[in-house]
Amino acid sequence: MKLAIIGTGYVGLVTGTCFAEMGNQVTCVDIDAGKIEKLRRGKLTIFEPGLELIFERNLREDRLHFTTQLAEAVTDSEVVFLALPTPKGGDGSADLSFVLGVAREIGKLIAAEENDAYKVIVNKSTVPVGTADLVRSVIEEAGLAAGERFDVVSNPEFLREGLAVDDFLKPERVVIGSSSSRAQAVMHNLYEPFVRNGNPILNMDERSSELTKYAANAFLATKITFMNEVANLCERVGANVEFVRHGIGTDSRIGKQFLYAGIGYGGSCFPKDVHALKRTAATYDYEFPVLDAVIRVNDRQHDALVSKVVSYFDGSLENRHFAVWGLAFKANTDDVRESPAHAVINALLAQGATITAFDPEAIETTRAVLGDTIAYAHDIYDALKDADALIVCTEWNEFRQPDFTRLKATLKQSAIFDGRNLFNPQTMAESGFDYFSIGRPQQFDVTTAPDGTRKKAHAERG
Ligand SMILES: NC(=O)c1ccc[n+]([C@@H]2O[C@H](COP(=O)([O-])OP(=O)(O)OC[C@H]3O[C@@H](n4cnc5c(N)ncnc54)[C@H](O)[C@@H]3O)[C@@H](O)[C@H]2O)c1
Repeated sequence: MKLAIIGTGYVGLVTGTCFAEMGNQVTCVDIDAGKIEKLRRGKLTIFEPGLELIFERNLREDRLHFTTQLAEAVTDSEVVFLALPTPKGGDGSADLSFVLGVAREIGKLIAAEENDAYKVIVNKSTVPVGTADLVRSVIEEAGLAAGERFDVVSNPEFLREGLAVDDFLKPERVVIGSSSSRAQAVMHNLYEPFVRNGNPILNMDERSSELTKYAANAFLATKITFMNEVANLCERVGANVEFVRHGIGTDSRIGKQFLYAGIGYGGSCFPKDVHALKRTAATYDYEFPVLDAVIRVNDRQHDALVSKVVSYFDGSLENRHFAVWGLAFKANTDDVRESPAHAVINALLAQGATITAFDPEAIETTRAVLGDTIAYAHDIYDALKDADALIVCTEWNEFRQPDFTRLKATLKQSAIFDGRNLFNPQTMAESGFDYFSIGRPQQFDVTTAPDGTRKKAHAERG
């Protein structure tokens, strides 16, 4: 099939590349000429594990194309995906100006096509309930009749940055929201190769599909937030969140994932999507108080670590210098949008501290936001020079087993504040570190946790 992907960011580039991998002819569009130029030269614009290999292959085999010209991609395409930004607007709702602006242009292009061909326009962006209807009416402004020359489909994307290629190639489910059987048939045909493993393609109406995406993200954000609340309570009552996590995660109704306490969720999706769902509810005169609590608690959680740092240094961070490991909002991505690491850094800077930070992939993306308000290191040890203490903000694998002797010799004070619970408190205590994590006692051997021995054995097997 001939496909157009409008918006070549994290979602658009992965979507385009993976559809090309299945043999489709794909043209990706972006207004960022620099991005398109780089992609044309065979250089990736994002860090995403596994993407490079299939990107290079499909570029080489001439199935993947890049342009800044919407017409070049849309004309003759059977399916047009909108993978455009839907950022948080002033009132918390999703800003649909990118999506509707492009939809209007697409309408004109379809109207100008001479062959009367039928196209499916797919909202892959995360968009509020009712957006498929809006997109449809904007396209109709060009004098086109829905169902004849085009249909609009909601097809939310569930990929996770850092695992995006795998998630796209082997989705747990594909959601297709459409009231048109013709459009549904086109979408089924397109997604068939991705669900050979028997995972479902779920057909539903547009509104349910749009809400599914927000409900999924808000539920996951709530799960993380709930566990952070439990961790905070653990610290006060003398319990251990590692034990509690195992204790509840073994209940299949709860499940083991998304139960790790930390410094709060971030990224380009959860924060804006929780806000947008709250706005949707308000628009329909429905109070959704759980979402208010999630937003409030998550904002507060960014401070959970900083307040430990402040109290360790007797209430003042003036003239203190810190090493920060981790800038990305989570491991395996260079994305720093709404990164909890940035929230921690900003809070430390506001208290008069200075910072040298290291991240394996997110230094350039951070520099674009924080500029030279902080210094950047070449590696984890370089970041430690002249630092009073180490602060860990992202759970990259390469942070998990550092040379602690070197850490101790380099840090001015042997203090580590771990916002991701990466290290074993017992080992830290035995090595003479003042070690602070989230929801765990300062002296506790993780290998004694319910599955600790197993975990250790696993690690020893390499
Ligand atoms: N990033 C994720 O993990 C993820 C996962 C699922 C869903 N989503 C949703 O997918 C959508 C896109 O997210 P993203 O992370 O890929 O965003 P992104 O910012 O990485 O990419 C969007 C791209 O669209 C381009 N763009 C803006 N206006 C344009 C225009 N008029 N014409 C062509 N291109 C234009 C931008 O230059 C940018 O490259 C959002 O709605 C997001 O909520 C994101």
